Amino acid sequence: MAIVQKDGFSSKFGVIAAAAGSAVGLGNIWRFPYITGENGGGAFLILYVFFVIVIGVPVMMSEFVIGRRSESNALGSFRKLAPGTPWWLIGLMGIIAAFVILSFYSTVSGWTLEYVFQSINQGFTGKSMNQLNIDFVTFTSGSFRPLLWQMIFMLLTAAVVMCGVQKGIEKATKILMPMLLVLIIAVCIRSVTLTGASEGLRFLFEPHFEKLTFKAVLMALGQAAFSLSIGMGALITYGSYIKKDTPLLSTSIQVASADTILAILSGIMIFPALFALGVGNTGGPGLVFVTLPAIFQSMPGGSIFAIVFFLLISVAALTSTISVLEVVVAYLKQEFNMSRLKATILGTVSISILGVFCTLSFGPLKHVTIFGKTVFDLMNYLSANVFLTFGALFIVIFTGWKLGKSSFVDELNQSGKINPIVTNVIVFIIKFIAPLAIAAIAIGAFFIEGLT
Ligand code: TRP
Repeated sequence: MAIVQKDGFSSKFGVIAAAAGSAVGLGNIWRFPYITGENGGGAFLILYVFFVIVIGVPVMMSEFVIGRRSESNALGSFRKLAPGTPWWLIGLMGIIAAFVILSFYSTVSGWTLEYVFQSINQGFTGKSMNQLNIDFVTFTSGSFRPLLWQMIFMLLTAAVVMCGVQKGIEKATKILMPMLLVLIIAVCIRSVTLTGASEGLRFLFEPHFEKLTFKAVLMALGQAAFSLSIGMGALITYGSYIKKDTPLLSTSIQVASADTILAILSGIMIFPALFALGVGNTGGPGLVFVTLPAIFQSMPGGSIFAIVFFLLISVAALTSTISVLEVVVAYLKQEFNMSRLKATILGTVSISILGVFCTLSFGPLKHVTIFGKTVFDLMNYLSANVFLTFGALFIVIFTGWKLGKSSFVDELNQSGKINPIVTNVIVFIIKFIAPLAIAAIAIGAFFIEGLT
């Protein structure tokens, strides 16, 4: 047998690029604006940022620590750190979550490719927001095209994952992510300078706490977990590729900051335009696919902008999907001794099968509902609000109560530079605050308000 060569990130910047690549994706640009819209705007945003800080960052650090300490995949890591105990079930839940997430995420990723294609063909020119909305519904309710794009996207994801955690993706993200940021800022500027934009900004930033329900609080927590890529072991898997001298505290803070800034900028890009330009769209998964083309039309050079922009969203989605697929591939590879190639094929094919149902649930399977939700809606809802929320809960419980303070601090604190006050605060949050907060929110949402 060949010597197992350890594949891993080359530098701290490489880790940040890969982890931020995982975090920044459709969760920021597509999901955040419409979930925020559906849950009342300003108050939701404040909660969201609060959860990123008090729950997201501690969970992210926990995942990196678990991964690097065990040098193992999402499930194997718990087996290694807590042998002979059922803690590995957290990892199993993460693997299932990867299937759930990627099945619907690949649907939307496929849409972004269609929109690249349409923008190249000048497909939006001269259309009102209303017409753009009709076009979106017509496209997504079809079968052949959305499925084709979804499969192309899954193949792209598989192609990257097949090559390993190599310089390719690290390098690509380092160039493409900053480009995405620049373009988003340009679109933000256009959006806020539209007449009537201030109403949108007010919606995004003016809190109305009286409108908040337990369910909205759960959605904010779920969205924070989804956007940061925590709660299912993606960052455990990436953590296992991080070198021992990379500082995990600052890495976590930087990744979370980048992700949150991009989410807020997406909101600034969408809401002013939504309020200024149109009545055609009531929100939901079509929100960005309708508003963005509308903004591009009112920009000089808009058609070029549209092409580059949708391309970059596709890339942002791709750097996220690879991190989800990598969870499954690393697991199959390490636990079943499969080759990377075999593991990638098996993972991709099985996820794609589930994905077909998500894509078709906008068209032929529209009326197939479970708990009153279409397959797509159910996967979308379950992933963030159930799998990732409970995943995050168990991960902090594991870190705080099983792994223990000394191992955690030792791993976080490789060079011994972190002030003990800081580590004490973090450990206190991980042991008490985060688990209690997550449990209270989940209990409130599921048992007091009932799952809808
Ligand atoms: N964070 C990504 C986004 O916002 C989605 C994602 C990638 C993810 N990997 C994940 C979500 C792992 C949860 C867990 O688009």
